[in-house]
Amino acid sequence: MCGIVGYLSHEEKPVVSIYQGLKKLEYRGYDSWGIVYLKNKRLVAIKEIGKLKSEPTNLPESVLALGHTRWATHGGITKANSHPQFDCTGNIALVHNGIIENYYLLKKELTQRKHKIVSDTDTELVAHLIEEKVEKGMTIEEAVRQVFRRLKGYNALVVMDKMQKRLLAVKTGSPLILGLSKKANYIASDINALGEAEELIILLDGELAEISENGVRVINVSDGREIPKQRIKMVEIEKESEMGEYQSFLEKEINEQPQVLERIVQEDGVQIKKIITLAKKMDKVILVGCGTSYFAGLVATEKLIKKLGKWVITVLASEFDTYVNLLDEKTLIIVLTQSGETIDVLDAIIKAKQKGATITSVVNAPYSSVQRVSDVCQMLSCGMEKCVASTKSFVAQMAVFDIALGIDLNQRIKNIKWILKNKNKINPLAKMISQKQHLFILGRGKMLPIALEGALKIKELSYIHAEGMAGGELKHGTLALIDKDSICIVLVSKENTNEMLASGLEVKARGATVIGIAQRKENVFDEFLPIRGKEDDEQTEAVVWLQLLAEKICDLKRLDPDKPRNLAKSVTVK
Ligand code: M6R
Repeated sequence: MCGIVGYLSHEEKPVVSIYQGLKKLEYRGYDSWGIVYLKNKRLVAIKEIGKLKSEPTNLPESVLALGHTRWATHGGITKANSHPQFDCTGNIALVHNGIIENYYLLKKELTQRKHKIVSDTDTELVAHLIEEKVEKGMTIEEAVRQVFRRLKGYNALVVMDKMQKRLLAVKTGSPLILGLSKKANYIASDINALGEAEELIILLDGELAEISENGVRVINVSDGREIPKQRIKMVEIEKESEMGEYQSFLEKEINEQPQVLERIVQEDGVQIKKIITLAKKMDKVILVGCGTSYFAGLVATEKLIKKLGKWVITVLASEFDTYVNLLDEKTLIIVLTQSGETIDVLDAIIKAKQKGATITSVVNAPYSSVQRVSDVCQMLSCGMEKCVASTKSFVAQMAVFDIALGIDLNQRIKNIKWILKNKNKINPLAKMISQKQHLFILGRGKMLPIALEGALKIKELSYIHAEGMAGGELKHGTLALIDKDSICIVLVSKENTNEMLASGLEVKARGATVIGIAQRKENVFDEFLPIRGKEDDEQTEAVVWLQLLAEKICDLKRLDPDKPRNLAKSVTVK
């Protein structure tokens, strides 16, 4: 989380371009934002709370500028806690993405040494630590290297050195990418914000980049030795996704799903087929992901068990440690991640690699960290997903596994188009749910991950407490919550029809309103949304209905569809 963008330009350049870069990074965090720039040999900063709403009109031109959009970790959402953060002298400015795990220890030390600490952030401590070393006569570059080596956790930092007119960027875990052009050089958390850069350099963990008037140089943080870096041409990278005719990226991304699937059919999953071949040879197959990607992993697991006839499990990346001691060279890890930057997933990969496991992945974002560290990587080809709530990437994740398993997607594409055309069917249901505080979504077998994903969409987009659960689990506790005010959505697949109708009857008997998403209208349903396709398409059709429902409730409640409160698109902190 948190977005970073900075430039050093040969000629003065409008600082407002940093604001425009931050707009492209806002999906990484939108609690507050700030910009620092060099003017008349002084560092000048502006900071604002909340989302980037209106472009500042009073920003000058400068050769050096750096910006940050924040997802709060240490300290509340205040101007004081917004980045950039400064040292006591005001000469060192820095922005940060990550969490400094030894924060308390460092803060205690600095307080004892009488530093004036004005924020509650972990970031500010770094500025003071650098300041101390510089006061003792060290160069800023050396000070940054030494201080960075003291920090625990996954962190990316960019320091503005006003004396030498340069930016120093260093990272472990969280992403930083350099953009190079004839007029200016850039640093950013994402390719998307790299201005008019023609080439890019990907900064790896333990590397420090200097962007100065002499160009760009990358050194090893440990020994200071220069590292030759590959420059990648920017041409084939999709830099920006426009909203076009749509009111939100959520709407755009839901509506794009048929085209996404058409592309996946055309590309025919060369890499995912290799992953499945590897899975056949391995003793253990473990899918790993977070949030929506985890649920896509659950969908794939059910299919892989059937196809491979062996144990396949899906593990939440944040719970991966439980399994680490069981991993070995005969383990295949299949990571699912839209962003390719989720830190829990990267952490799991590092641990699995240490045990000799083979790392494969299904990733949407090109040049992302997960793609780079994978032995085999299937790209999703979804195009950039900007809305914080994942939609098209989930449908694409399910589809790439289906392609590898030989499932034809053509009818699925037609059926999604039909659902999108008939989306008004959900309006009365959305209105009814929007007045509630709780919602239950029940599924069994292949529909359980869809119930979980549907509930996550409703939570993120409407702030209604939605519980996705196995229909069979109702009677083990949750049924106590069901009464005449409850609404339960029941997801019925062909293979679990009888069991799911039984779950529907159980909640109906307690007075609940039952919405069925199923092949056929059944007596137990008060409301009904149709699934038209064959068994392989049932999950996708059900999830598209649930996406549309979440979108409509969000709209009725006048909430922000693209940037739900407290969240960020790319979760780069543990
Ligand atoms: O980029 P990733 O797929 O690794 O992200 C995983 C989750 O953070 C993500 O799916 C999150 O749950 C979404 N907000 C869900 O809509």
